[in-house]
Amino acid sequence: MAEKTFYLETFGCQMNVHDSEKVAGTLAARGYRQVHSTEEARLVLYNTCSIRDKAEQKVFSRLANFKKQRGDKIFGVLGCVAQHQGEEIFAQAPHVSLVCGSASYNQLPDLMDRVEAGESRVTGLSLDTDETFDTPLVERDNPHRAYITIIEGCDKHCTYCVVPFTRGPERSRASAGILEEARRLAAAGYTEIQLLGQTVNSYRDPSPAGLRFAQLLDAVGRVAGIRRVRFTTSHPRDFTADIIEAIDGNPALCNQVHLPVQSGSTRLLDRMERNYTREEYLGRIRTIKASPRKIAISTDVIVGFPGETREDFEQTLSLLDEVEYDSIFSFKYSPRAGTPAAEYADAVPEEEQSWRLSILQEKQRRIQVRRHEQLIGLEEEVLVEGRREKSGQWIGRTSQNRVLNFADPGSLAAGENLLGAFCRVRVTGSGPNSLVGELLAKEPARATHGFRILQ
Ligand code: 5AD
Ligand code: SF4
Repeated sequence: MAEKTFYLETFGCQMNVHDSEKVAGTLAARGYRQVHSTEEARLVLYNTCSIRDKAEQKVFSRLANFKKQRGDKIFGVLGCVAQHQGEEIFAQAPHVSLVCGSASYNQLPDLMDRVEAGESRVTGLSLDTDETFDTPLVERDNPHRAYITIIEGCDKHCTYCVVPFTRGPERSRASAGILEEARRLAAAGYTEIQLLGQTVNSYRDPSPAGLRFAQLLDAVGRVAGIRRVRFTTSHPRDFTADIIEAIDGNPALCNQVHLPVQSGSTRLLDRMERNYTREEYLGRIRTIKASPRKIAISTDVIVGFPGETREDFEQTLSLLDEVEYDSIFSFKYSPRAGTPAAEYADAVPEEEQSWRLSILQEKQRRIQVRRHEQLIGLEEEVLVEGRREKSGQWIGRTSQNRVLNFADPGSLAAGENLLGAFCRVRVTGSGPNSLVGELLAKEPARATHGFRILQ
C-alpha cells in the first residue's frame, strides 16, 4: 500500500470541526499522516453537513471531481450527510468506500481495518449508542482555543431540523471526564475552552456528581490556567437563570450567549415546535440583559419557513429592534427530507425568501453599525488569534466574541509573535462586523505545544 496519507475537509458546525480533530487524531494513531491537498492523499475524507440543501450538495460536487480516480484513492464520507443518506451515497458516488455517521466514530478503527483490507462498501450508520465520541486522540487545529463536546445529539425535534436524524438522541458526557480534559488542556497551554453541543445547555450529568449545566460551566471556568470559556449552542427553553448567575460570578466565563430564536412570531414558533413563545424568549433576553456583565447576544433566524406571512416576518424584524443583537446568523428555510416541515404545503416562494433575507440582514447591519460606534473609546481585553499580513495588524477577539484588529509597530519591528497573547486594546474605530483599536498593554504570548496528540 502507498504511504498512509489522509486529506480531511470539514463542512458545517463547530461540532463537526471538533469531530474532525478527533478523526484526525484517530488516524494519526494508526500511522496516517495528514496532508493538505487531495493529490497527495491516499485517503480522502469529507466530514459533511446536511443542515441545508446547499451544504449537503457541496460534498457531492466535491466527490464528482474524482469520478475517474477510483482505484488509486480511498474515499470516505463522514458526518451528517453520511448518516442522513446512508448507503444512497454509494449509488450517487460509486467510488466512495466508507460511509460513517458521527454516532459511529467509536467504531472508526474497526471500519478502517476493513477499508484497509480492501472492502469497497464499509458503513457505520447505527444511531443506537449511548456513548459519545470521547477519545484521547485529538489533533487540535488551534493552539490556544480548544473544543470539548459535552453533549451529543438532540431530543428537541424542531419541525425543520435534520439534526435529530443525523446526530441521534441526546447523550451527555460525565462531568469528571470533561473537567479532566479541561485540566489537561490548561496544562498543555490552552487558555480558552469552548463547550459544544447541539443544545449545550440541555446538558445533564449522567454521573452521580449530577452537575447542572451552569455548575459544569462554572467548574470549567475555575480550572487553573483557563482564562476564557464559551459555550454553544443554547436552546431558549433550557436557558435557566442560573447560567447567567454563573457568568456573573466567574470572570473566566465570556460575555457571550448564542441563543437561537428562529422567528419572532409565536405562531411560527409553534409551527416550528420550538416550545417557547416570543414573550418567553424575550423574558430570557431580559434576564441576560439584567446582568451587570455586558453580555453579547447573538442568534439564528430562519426566514421563509412554510406558512410565514409578511406579518410573521415583520415580527421577526421587530424582535431584532427589541433585542438589538450583537450579531445574527440568518438563513432561508431549506426543506430537509424526513422532517415534518418538509411535508407542509404552504412553502414561501424562493424569491420572497431572498427578499426577506436581504431586508433582515440590512436591518441587522444597521443595528451593528450603531452598536459598534458606541464602543469607540472603550478598553477591551483581546486574545490575539491571527495577523493580517497586508496591514500588519493583529487580529484580536474580545470576550464578547467581536473581532478587534490593532496595530503594534513595536512587536512587528521586533519580530515578536503576539499569537495567543492577551492584550489590552482601546477601540478607535468600527465597522459593521469588526472593530479597530490601538494597543495599550500586552502580556507575553503563552507557549503551547501546537499540534499534538493528547494522551
Ligand atoms: N433550513 C434553514 N435553516 C436551518 N437551520 C436548521 N435547519 C434549517 C433548515 N431546514 C438553521 C437554524 C439553526 C442553524 C444551525 O441552522 O437557524 O439554528
Ligand atoms: Fe450541520 Fe447540524 Fe450536522 Fe452540524 S450537526 S454538521 S449543523 S447538520
